[in-house]
Amino acid sequence: ALPRDLEGVHVVISAGGTREPLDPVRHLGNRSSGKQGYALARVAAQRGARVTLVTAHTQALAEPAGVDIRPVSTAAQLGEAVQDAARTADVIVMAAAVADFRPADTADYKIKKSDDNPDPDIKLVRNPDILAGLVRQRLPGQVIVGFAAETGDADGSVLDHATAKLKRKGCDLLVVNAVGEGKAFEMEENTGWLLSAEGLRERIPLGAKALLAATVWDAVTGLLHRPGKG
Ligand code: PMT
Repeated sequence: ALPRDLEGVHVVISAGGTREPLDPVRHLGNRSSGKQGYALARVAAQRGARVTLVTAHTQALAEPAGVDIRPVSTAAQLGEAVQDAARTADVIVMAAAVADFRPADTADYKIKKSDDNPDPDIKLVRNPDILAGLVRQRLPGQVIVGFAAETGDADGSVLDHATAKLKRKGCDLLVVNAVGEGKAFEMEENTGWLLSAEGLRERIPLGAKALLAATVWDAVTGLLHRPGKG
């Protein structure tokens, strides 16, 4: 049986991939299936947490039992829903793959092929960094966990880069996933490193996404029970 060590803890998890519309039928998206975020939600609920799952687009996944699910589509909607839930959260985990850019304009009608405009120019603009915003508005004692999808092997240089990212972003924990063909996205299994602001570097062996989720929750409970915390 799993420990009930998240009893009385409100956790907010984002999952899936956002979609940024170009016109009524097209969007910019990414390959996130939502499996890692849903596994985090399922394991947290099994360990007794109150779970809010803000979910962007996913493959068809079974809904984790006993979880409050809030579906969204764009990065802007995901940011709003996470910020709203964060007002009562003890822990926030940003496992969603959030679009860094969105089309500057969304056409009201399907963009047509035409002889005078064979190669339409699509201008992109930056989306706000939701994680950075959460850190700026952090409540006392709130634990914030980020994910980093990095191409290339998670060797020393990638970890140094990720540690710098963790410090820059100001979150407490960062899960570093190696992504690329046949890695992390859409797979049943995941692997990577768990980095903490306090300097911990823990290798997460290749295994079911529920296993990576359990490693994250173990580290989170450690932080929730730091001296001076409730
Ligand atoms: O969904 P699966 O198929 O199971 O795959 C899981 C996963 C690989 C998508 C997941 O484990 C993962 O790594 N998610 C984060 C992917 C990502 O967007 O990484 P990033 O390095 O671009 O972003 C870093 C962090 O900032 C993330 O926590 C992200 O949620 C957050 N972010 C990013 C952009 C943005 N505008 N706002 C954000 O808050």
